[in-house]
Amino acid sequence: MKTVIVTGASRGIGLATVKKFLAEGWFTIGTSTKGKVDINDKNFVSLALAYPDEKSIDAAIKNIAKIGRKIDVLVNNAAIALDDIGNDLDTDKLRETLEVNVISTADFTIKLLPFLNVPSHIINISSMAASLGDPIENTWHTPAYKISKTALNMFTRTMARQLQPKNIIVSSLDPGWVKTDMGGPEGERIPEEAADDIYKLAISKVETGKFWLEGKERGW
Ligand SMILES: NC(=O)c1ccc[n+]([C@@H]2O[C@H](COP(=O)([O-])OP(=O)(O)OC[C@H]3O[C@@H](n4cnc5c(N)ncnc54)[C@H](OP(=O)(O)O)[C@@H]3O)[C@@H](O)[C@H]2O)c1
Repeated sequence: MKTVIVTGASRGIGLATVKKFLAEGWFTIGTSTKGKVDINDKNFVSLALAYPDEKSIDAAIKNIAKIGRKIDVLVNNAAIALDDIGNDLDTDKLRETLEVNVISTADFTIKLLPFLNVPSHIINISSMAASLGDPIENTWHTPAYKISKTALNMFTRTMARQLQPKNIIVSSLDPGWVKTDMGGPEGERIPEEAADDIYKLAISKVETGKFWLEGKERGW
């Protein structure tokens, strides 16, 4: 039985992703800040993981070690979006957003490397907000969040290079605009559609270091 870890599994895209992997017969570990995920399944374990608290990251890694399974897929899904749309860049929000969406995500990933299977796949949930190619007036003006997701994409690229010799694929995935607490009720997709994309990418032997949207490579 293969094993996946999904961070930020208590709601939205993360919760739908956990349900998808369980339905496909995977042993599934899901995290939330309080350690509670509303799923009752013998193949599911929930863990507390509250970024940017380093002690929480270390405790989660210890708990994963105790579970004693090699990890086939890591979905780095947990994130925050603190900006109000249209606001100017706020340095405090930028610092907090980078701590959670980038630095803690990197810390957790690096500490998890000894537990990854070979081959395995790390999927970083990015966003259209990361785009460097869109006109500057386009989409959601959420400066701190956008900067964090662009940085996350470069984390994908650098880890892809680092882990290529170890046969570990690292991908970024744009889930589209999804109806969740973060995406709001007007989102164009439901979390289950994003979860299907994540699952399909997870089981595909794709080229490492790429950015994906709805099953197709997309531009950075
Ligand atoms: N929704 C969209 O339209 C959209 C579009 C593009 C990209 N995304 C990306 O997709 C991913 C999931 O988004 P979503 O819309 O499903 O978000 P969401 O509904 O707000 O859920 C966020 C998840 O992340 C966890 N989380 C929040 N703060 C955390 C922290 N400090 N430490 C650890 N975990 C934390 C939450 O756990 P708690 O319940 O414990 O707080 C929750 O499980 C994110 O990476 C987001 O940037 C979303």
